[in-house]
Amino acid sequence: MTIAVFAAQAGDAADPAQIAAGKSLAEAACSACHKVGPGQPQPGAGEAGKDRVKGPSFTRIARDRRNDGLYLHSFIKFPHYPMRDLSLSEGQIDSLVAYILSLRKKASPKPAAEAQ
Ligand code: HEC
Repeated sequence: MTIAVFAAQAGDAADPAQIAAGKSLAEAACSACHKVGPGQPQPGAGEAGKDRVKGPSFTRIARDRRNDGLYLHSFIKFPHYPMRDLSLSEGQIDSLVAYILSLRKKASPKPAAEAQ
């Protein structure tokens, strides 16, 4: 029952609808600088991306055990250079955090499924 254990660790009532909302938000708002999930394009691949500052992939962020929900929430709440202020609502931030932590759940039991 490994799955159940990981689900429990991911904590905070991570429901599928919230995770899905976080995923589309991440694709829209964060993918310019972050690879926001398996199968997502690497930022900076296109013409516009060559001078762009790139952040760590969300899968990598999710794997870092120091990055718990509370840390991620406060990190996203106060925009990081060079990210501009997106004025995200608390609900949007919760969705983003749920999505990022869901990558950890998927990444942990089957690392091979996750092509970088
Ligand atoms: C304009 C580029 C840019 C955008 C847009 C952007 N980021 Fe980042 N992000 C970065 C860079 C660069 C870093 C690494 C430097 C740092 O940690 O400050 C980073 C780091 C992070 C981290 C790392 C935390 C850690 O310490 O491991 C998180 C979480 C994060 N971003 C979340 C987001 C989310 C969520 C969005 C979308 C709402 C987003 N970022 C949009 C550039 C960006």
